[in-house]
Amino acid sequence: MKKMKQKYGWGLVGPGRFAREFVEELRMIPGAELAAVASRSKSKADAFARDFGFKSSYGSYEDLVADPEVDIVYIAVPHVFHDEIARLAIRNGKAVFCEKPLTPSLRSTREMLSYAENEGVFLMEGMKTGFLPVIARAKEWIDGGRIGEVKLGYADFCFTGSQDPSDRLLNPELGGGAVLDVGIYPLHLMRFLLGEVETIEATGELAPTGVEESVAMIAAHHGGARSCMTCSIQSEESMGARILGTEGEIRIPKFHAATSIELLKDGKVVDRLDDDSGGMVKGEIVAAMKALDEGMIQCPGHSHEDTLALARVMESVIESVRGDCGE
Ligand SMILES: NC(=O)c1ccc[n+]([C@@H]2O[C@H](COP(=O)([O-])OP(=O)(O)OC[C@H]3O[C@@H](n4cnc5c(N)ncnc54)[C@H](OP(=O)(O)O)[C@@H]3O)[C@@H](O)[C@H]2O)c1
Repeated sequence: MKKMKQKYGWGLVGPGRFAREFVEELRMIPGAELAAVASRSKSKADAFARDFGFKSSYGSYEDLVADPEVDIVYIAVPHVFHDEIARLAIRNGKAVFCEKPLTPSLRSTREMLSYAENEGVFLMEGMKTGFLPVIARAKEWIDGGRIGEVKLGYADFCFTGSQDPSDRLLNPELGGGAVLDVGIYPLHLMRFLLGEVETIEATGELAPTGVEESVAMIAAHHGGARSCMTCSIQSEESMGARILGTEGEIRIPKFHAATSIELLKDGKVVDRLDDDSGGMVKGEIVAAMKALDEGMIQCPGHSHEDTLALARVMESVIESVRGDCGE
């Protein structure tokens, strides 16, 4: 397999809310260089570049993808624009690391993945949770039989987001809704730890803008385990996960950015891991660059099949909830 370079110039598209958190970590990672940032507004890109030390700044995405110093385009704009920008980057031969969800629909996700595969260009959906040391430990405990046979999983991602109907969380034209924004996390975790989702049922409530606001989901996984998951963009915060087996329980507070995990037997903690290495997205960034080093066009830790499987269950959940509400 063709080896690539050990240093990668990152080009950020969309210097918004999450991009700041991402770049705070990106700039500390050996081998990651802050090559360029692009915004619809040149002055905003200039200011962001100054704040973080990007080498170049652009007022157009076309200029960023034409920059020879950019190897990987990081897309951090609302979901509905991911597809177009990813295609632009791939057409220009740039690897793409795209925020979750890759696109807002199953069909466009499938088409996007095929496009990158046909062009032979690296494409990865950002899914930080699966790269956290604490989540890796949960998987080790489960695979090593520490909680016996896995029976049930619970995971929630609920919080109070913006009340503004034009905000990307609530605005249907910007791909709004709880499932695409945060439901993806419990769906990813339960699939990652319990196995492929074979069936899923969902019920929920829509926001006045028509996007899902609060959703409850129940899944049956390959191998027999069942999971219960919730997501909301308008409720009190709840972001925990638990896995129950015949011989124990695993508890993961704030699982999407987890820093600790406990193993319990008969209600008593018998093992735990506290990860004080810091960082929420560095695992996925390092994994993307490693896959590129090895000449791959997808990342084994969150493969194209993983992205597609998530898109499939999210679409099924959204259809159920909108159907429930007479849409
Ligand atoms: N991995 C994680 O933990 C995590 C956390 C939060 C969000 N995300 C993902 O990151 C992405 C961005 O989320 P965010 O909350 O950071 O978004 P945001 O702040 O609302 O927007 C990000 C940037 O996108 C551009 N943009 C916003 N609205 C636009 C519009 N109507 N038309 C064209 N461009 C627009 C803007 O860039 P310019 O004005 O500079 O052009 C903006 O700064 C989403 O896909 C989300 O799912 C991931």
